[in-house]
Amino acid sequence: MKNIIRNIKGTNDILPDESLLWIYYENYIRDFFQKYGYKEIRTPIFESTELFLRSIGKDTDIVSKEMYSWVDQGNNNLTLRPELTASVSRSFIQNQLNKKQKSHKFYYIGSSFRRERPQKGRFRQFEQFGIESFGSSFPEQDAEIISMAYLFYKSLDIKNLNLRINTIGSREDRKKYVQSLKEYFNKFEKKLTSISRKRLESNPLRILDTKIDFEIELVRKAPRIIDYISDEDKKHFQTLLNILDNMNIPYVIDNYLVRGLDYYSRTVFEVQSDSLGSQNALCGGGRYDYLIDELGGQKTPAIGFAAGIERLILASELDVNHIENKPDIYIVASSNEAINLSFSLANKLRYKKNFVVIQDTLRRSIKSQMKDANRLQARYCIIIAEEEIKNSTVSIKNMDTGDQKTKLFDEVLDFFK
Ligand code: HAM
Repeated sequence: MKNIIRNIKGTNDILPDESLLWIYYENYIRDFFQKYGYKEIRTPIFESTELFLRSIGKDTDIVSKEMYSWVDQGNNNLTLRPELTASVSRSFIQNQLNKKQKSHKFYYIGSSFRRERPQKGRFRQFEQFGIESFGSSFPEQDAEIISMAYLFYKSLDIKNLNLRINTIGSREDRKKYVQSLKEYFNKFEKKLTSISRKRLESNPLRILDTKIDFEIELVRKAPRIIDYISDEDKKHFQTLLNILDNMNIPYVIDNYLVRGLDYYSRTVFEVQSDSLGSQNALCGGGRYDYLIDELGGQKTPAIGFAAGIERLILASELDVNHIENKPDIYIVASSNEAINLSFSLANKLRYKKNFVVIQDTLRRSIKSQMKDANRLQARYCIIIAEEEIKNSTVSIKNMDTGDQKTKLFDEVLDFFK
């Protein structure tokens, strides 16, 4: 092959056949979230780098090594968003939405960028959708969000779902917990991998995410955060679990689920699917009751989750061939005059009947145009050839039955009543 330019590693082209699946899911996402009264918010793809430093946290993997950041010609430090919670929070504060009403519920769909090592289900540009709710600190808000995450996948018939939930309490309680976690892992420092040893200094909670067998064994015996949190936070968690029980939403309490972003407090959760392989998280989220305040807004409790569309598509068994995409009509035209006529007829059928109408622009023979109509599985062909022009008629062929009828031009719209 010639020396062609290729896409960047970890990015994907979505070709027209596959984009049918994407359109299907994007429509599904919008319908699903709108059923709960969530409204779409769109924020810019790039932001000040500082926004992500201050929200996601400088010691996280995302900020310390995965961001696409640059300094532009005006000396501004900019970053392609690695997620949308920070951007939505910034927009919430900047537009003073808290003054308009007490509760705000948003959903979004948009690209995110992280310089991770690409593998199945993990890309450098990926499409996230998610929801964020601002204003309520009550456990019923957590229950709404978590049940939406679970039922979203359930309603799409995604198999082997596993909802994991934990509570990580307040900042103060977490400090005490981190201290005892440090003391515990310090005892095994020499045995730890170099990554975990670094984390022991920078962010010991992240050791709980280890995928290394002998470290997992250590984690199983490590102190649990639930033993460090306040009675009030425990009550919040228990009320949330009771509501989920009442909804018959199955979950597992995972005492070591902490998530890789710094802004969380109280509830955290993930929906995983075993069908995905090592990148098994379909979605993840939690409360971030401190973030709005920390970004300079008025203290506002918040909770949300985000998910990748690529992983949804990987986990789903929906076959693109089952998505209806057949043209209603293919117009076969055989001469200049026929081509001219076909344009006005095609537009009438599109705008008056709402049909999908295909026209040939390759000046192919009648036979090849019919072949093309067959390939596309058009429901009808409208043929305008010499004979038809002479008589001001068209031939309409039902491609399923093979029936063919002759109609005057003026009768075509009525034929498709
Ligand atoms: P996150 O866990 O970093 O959370 O990402 C959420 C989801 O995005 C993951 O579960 C996964 O489906 C998808 N995802 C993440 N990284 C990649 C990647 N490299 N390739 C493909 N898919 C990926 C957040 O982003 C938080 N903002 C979630 C949140 C919203 N918390 C509160 N509100």
